[in-house]
Amino acid sequence: MRRMVAETRLHPADLVLPAFVREGISAPVAIGSMPGVVQHTRDTLKKAAVEAVEAGVSGIMLFGVPEESKKDGLGTAGTDPDGILQVALRDVRAEVGDDLIVMSDLCLDEFTDHGHCGVLDEQGRVDNDATLERYAEMAQVQADAGAHVVGPSGMMDGQIGVIRDALDQTEHEDVSILAYTVKYSSAFFGPFREAVGSSLKGDRKTYQQDPANSRESLRELALDLEEGADMVMVKPAGPYLDILAKVAEVSDVPVAAYQISGEYAMIEAAAERGWIDRDKAIMESLTGIKRAGAQMILTYWATEVARKL
Ligand code: PBG
Repeated sequence: MRRMVAETRLHPADLVLPAFVREGISAPVAIGSMPGVVQHTRDTLKKAAVEAVEAGVSGIMLFGVPEESKKDGLGTAGTDPDGILQVALRDVRAEVGDDLIVMSDLCLDEFTDHGHCGVLDEQGRVDNDATLERYAEMAQVQADAGAHVVGPSGMMDGQIGVIRDALDQTEHEDVSILAYTVKYSSAFFGPFREAVGSSLKGDRKTYQQDPANSRESLRELALDLEEGADMVMVKPAGPYLDILAKVAEVSDVPVAAYQISGEYAMIEAAAERGWIDRDKAIMESLTGIKRAGAQMILTYWATEVARKL
């Protein structure tokens, strides 16, 4: 009876797999704070993409981890056509074609030696408008490499408009933008910093949102929609279900939520200690995110959960 009357049902097509690919390694590297998640080699990434397709997952979101020596102040490796993310995009597209929506993280933090999402001014502050120029170039390079969707995650003002223009001017009109519209400055990003070998010291409070606030989320949404976002995302998911519900109510484009590294790590760690039922906790967390209004959910459990469904 519960099955018959359930208001919310997860489907493999709801799920998008975030995946890390690291330059210069010959075997996958485990991420200590995210048991079961690895930094892929180019080869194992292709395998993971194929497994995701077979499980019915609808998309993959790629993050590139460059060699440490390739990081610099401008995040040059992020716009190098032969940079790790671009190489991986080409690999995955060649492997899965259009069977999987291939998305790319559009942000400089994995490529900068200071670890910020943008370039810095002389005083060491993130320079919003100089960063937009870098993002425009990144969008083009990622689209050239085969991204179906770019995912700007840097929270710079005006980033969606600039990226839309850059894509349109370079014959990538059909590349979509999944805007990280609502992104809070969150402690739950912790394990991700290990996952991408982040160089960040300090925090992102000057460009990510304050967890205490809700209203600015709707402002971010209005701006992103006006600038041309094709899909919008709320992130993290679990601690922000109220925000997700609000965004889902008023957005007229598809809404995604990102169940982030810390949300993953908490369940895995508690389960490892035998404190919670891992599989049930995973399903419950995802059902809650969908119930709150997400059509697409980025989760590190995407392939595993899709198989079970
Ligand atoms: C920025 C980016 C981050 C995440 C996705 N894109 C890190 C941050 O903003 O600090 C976090 C994802 C996760 O924690 O799982 N490139």
